[in-house]
Amino acid sequence: MKITYLGHASLHIEFDEISIIVDPFISGNSLASHIDVNELDADYIFVTHAHQDHILDVETIAKNTGATIVSNYEIAMHYGAKNFNVFAMNHGGTYKTQAFSAKYVNAIHTSSFPDGSYGGQPGGFVLTVGRKSIYIAGDTALTYDMKLIPLQTKLDLAIFPIGDTFTMGVDDAIIASDFVACDKVLGYHYDSFPPIKIDQEEAEQKFSKKQKDLILLEIGNSIEI
Ligand code: NI
Ligand code: MN
Repeated sequence: MKITYLGHASLHIEFDEISIIVDPFISGNSLASHIDVNELDADYIFVTHAHQDHILDVETIAKNTGATIVSNYEIAMHYGAKNFNVFAMNHGGTYKTQAFSAKYVNAIHTSSFPDGSYGGQPGGFVLTVGRKSIYIAGDTALTYDMKLIPLQTKLDLAIFPIGDTFTMGVDDAIIASDFVACDKVLGYHYDSFPPIKIDQEEAEQKFSKKQKDLILLEIGNSIEI
């Protein structure tokens, strides 16, 4: 599985000819001006919650690609009413295809659409492809619910918000990595706006002090899991 960081909380995940875009916020991110939304391919768009900085480019990509939008019931109904392909789920549920499974898990956050309308309850995804599993936490605080994940799934990578203010910061993300029993963390949801600017070097040092690996990718760069 190849994971490309598209900036903020946006990811491009590719495996076996399948392409998943997560929480696309690209055209509004000045740090990601070298990424062209119209060139992204997608079979699925995973949406963790309805905030603007996670859905901005959902419709553009869905229009361009015909991708299926996978999200909580309210978000799926929102896009279904606009005639996009959707798969609706809710916390605890797993979307199973021949190529992957994706479980929608708890997040502690909020989830309103930009116009204030209800965007269901926020979540994250545990994505399993063959023997590899990753946890895309979405916007969340540190929560004891994270401890449920390793009861069922051995993670190869945890993707955590680390920008603080609206989500966990670095110190809580280190505890979260204990909770999910995964010492390999990809950081996201940082540096895009002034309130979530971090000291990257200090963050990496804090993780390495705990014998953990914090990966911070340049926007457009990838890791292979
Ligand atoms: Ni949010
Ligand atoms: Mn956010």
